[in-house]
Amino acid sequence: MTAAIGLFFGSDEGNTEAVAYRIQQRLGEEFVDVMDIADVTQLEFADYDCIVLGIPTWDFGQIQSDWEEFWDDVSEVDFSNKRVALFGLGDQFGYGDYFLDAMGMLHDVVKSKGAQLIGYWPTEGYDFEASKALLEDQKLFMGLAIDEDQQEEMTAARLNRWCEQIVAEFELEIPVEHLDD
Ligand SMILES: Cc1cc2nc3c(=O)[nH]c(=O)nc-3n(C[C@H](O)[C@H](O)[C@H](O)COP(=O)(O)O)c2cc1C
Repeated sequence: MTAAIGLFFGSDEGNTEAVAYRIQQRLGEEFVDVMDIADVTQLEFADYDCIVLGIPTWDFGQIQSDWEEFWDDVSEVDFSNKRVALFGLGDQFGYGDYFLDAMGMLHDVVKSKGAQLIGYWPTEGYDFEASKALLEDQKLFMGLAIDEDQQEEMTAARLNRWCEQIVAEFELEIPVEHLDD
């Protein structure tokens, strides 16, 4: 049986994968199926009405390699009647002109395929020059912003808060465990 939430991630060096499982720990294995985008087909999206997508940015504003390979497939998924929350990983000091760009690109694709996007996240507390993952007013990211390179110590609290937010916006009755890591 599938869980209420399908979480799909791509990860080159393991940071996004680790965050994916930290989200699952907070929401419970019975409520979240975690899948590597390298191992799935677009058909698996059909199983879930509530979807979480995790993507890091690489090489000056590029999409992570497994997401890149999946890009044509994701562009063909019908996301209408689905709620989608995004989380992105990046390095705001090292790549401040391209912070989380891939999350912005994924947002635009999923939105164009009819998804209702949830899980937008305030930009307070981050320091960067430019990002394609910002909404027009520049006050919100298009999903949760995680920086394991520069703000690792803030990740646990951000995940606790964002998990509460997405459960409410998915309109699910899932207790969120608040964790220190
Ligand atoms: C060569 C290189 C290029 C990167 N390019 C970007 C970038 O353009 N924008 C950004 O926000 N982060 C960038 N990063 C930071 C990564 O997104 C970050 O380390 C992330 O946590 C990696 O996730 P992963 O381990 O799941 O692949 C880059 C890192 C490296 C080493």
